[in-house]
Amino acid sequence: MTETIQKTIAFVKGKLEGAEAGHDWFHIERVWKLSLKIAETEGGNSEVVELAALLHDIADPKFHNGDETLALKISEEWMNSLKVSPDVVEQVLFIIKNISFKNRGESPENPPIELQIVQDADRLDAIGAIGIARTFNFGGFKNNLMYHPEIPPKLNMSKEEYKKNEGTTVNHFYEKLLLLKDLMNTNSAKKIAAERHDFMLKFLERFYKEWNVTE
Ligand code: ADP
Ligand code: NI
Repeated sequence: MTETIQKTIAFVKGKLEGAEAGHDWFHIERVWKLSLKIAETEGGNSEVVELAALLHDIADPKFHNGDETLALKISEEWMNSLKVSPDVVEQVLFIIKNISFKNRGESPENPPIELQIVQDADRLDAIGAIGIARTFNFGGFKNNLMYHPEIPPKLNMSKEEYKKNEGTTVNHFYEKLLLLKDLMNTNSAKKIAAERHDFMLKFLERFYKEWNVTE
């Protein structure tokens, strides 16, 4: 591992101390490992992939009054302090700016492979067993209802509606998690996503059975 990556790991761990459990260092560690795994088959510049994976949630707007520029500012200053080459810095910042699900309406047309990889890794961590756990943790953190039989999911929300939506945690499955499988960029991620997706469907099926006491 390079010194740049080692130092960045320590920096990110420090910054995310006390973070909500779905967006803490362990989320970053999983995204970093998934990115490296996907990059093994998909290629890309590994310094860009690793730095972007490690820095992508350094200041999530959700936890910083909606500020979408803070993560870019902190990441840029950090990489400059390590004398990372300007070309790499630019590529990493481009990924951080474009990775988010809520910004998918504004995605660049031919995303570089490094963005495709880190975005897929972040999305894979939002589905499957971990995705379920993170979603209920976030819902609890926001004091949202787990489920309400009379509140339907809101499909096709605009970015602004998505950000202020206070629906139920189960609705978040229909508003985001179940859509991710078809949004994967790389074939490697599509394969991993398929099994995680099926697991969520099975989970929901049981959830409704147990909720309604129909078995
Ligand atoms: P991104 O960071 O890609 O823009 P989000 O901010 O929508 O994506 O969500 C990141 C993760 O936070 C989700 O995968 C989910 O686990 C959790 N999360 C976000 N919004 C909600 C919500 N309304 N209810 C439950 N979990 C949520
Ligand atoms: Ni993330």
